[in-house]
Amino acid sequence: MIELRKITRDNIDEVIALEVEENQKEFILKTTNLRCFADAHMLNTDGIPASPLAIYANDTMVGFLMYIYDTLDHESFENELFYGKKSYFIWHNMIDKSYQGKGYGKLAFEKMLTEIENMPYGEAEFVTLFYHTSNVKAKTLYASFGFVDTGIIQDNSMLAIKNLNGEITESLVE
Ligand SMILES: CC(C)(COP(=O)(O)OP(=O)(O)OC[C@H]1O[C@@H](n2cnc3c(N)ncnc32)[C@H](O)[C@@H]1OP(=O)(O)O)[C@@H](O)C(=O)NCCC(=O)NCCS
Repeated sequence: MIELRKITRDNIDEVIALEVEENQKEFILKTTNLRCFADAHMLNTDGIPASPLAIYANDTMVGFLMYIYDTLDHESFENELFYGKKSYFIWHNMIDKSYQGKGYGKLAFEKMLTEIENMPYGEAEFVTLFYHTSNVKAKTLYASFGFVDTGIIQDNSMLAIKNLNGEITESLVE
């Protein structure tokens, strides 16, 4: 059974100890779980809701993910149909190297999307994320949930988007 649990003083050390493979570090933009947890705190302080969550499989911590609720107002999005719209943005997503390839990443992602579809922080039209252009596993995973590439690439990472209103996402990107 997969669960997403809040991070507390009881499990923070385990979150910090989770690791990806050396050659996967660029896929998470060379960040760390500790840094992401700090980002969540800073974002929340700035009024941007952030949910850092530990992934458990049958009561064992196997990964960590984080999503935020924000506006798609980056200047590079100015000519896009989604510019200025509200979005749940997936900030971080990782399964520890010793637990990858067992289906946990997919189940956890599905759980997170279900949580997002309930719009815990407010209405939004989209879910968005970046994945490294050479991260075939992530691209396949996200595409299987209906994310489409926008063609916007920043620091070798592709912005992918999914509609939350049931409309077909392809119509958003040419
Ligand atoms: C990407 C990641 C979260 C996926 O989690 P996982 O538990 O390893 O993946 P799963 O076993 O649940 O497989 C999920 C899906 O990934 C895709 N996938 C898995 N291995 C793949 C491979 N070798 N090639 C292409 N797609 C692959 C498939 O769509 C698979 O679903 P399917 O088995 O139904 O076909 C995990 O591998 C990870 O943390 N990698 C390092 C960090 C990273 O890349 N994070 C993503 C940042 S955007």
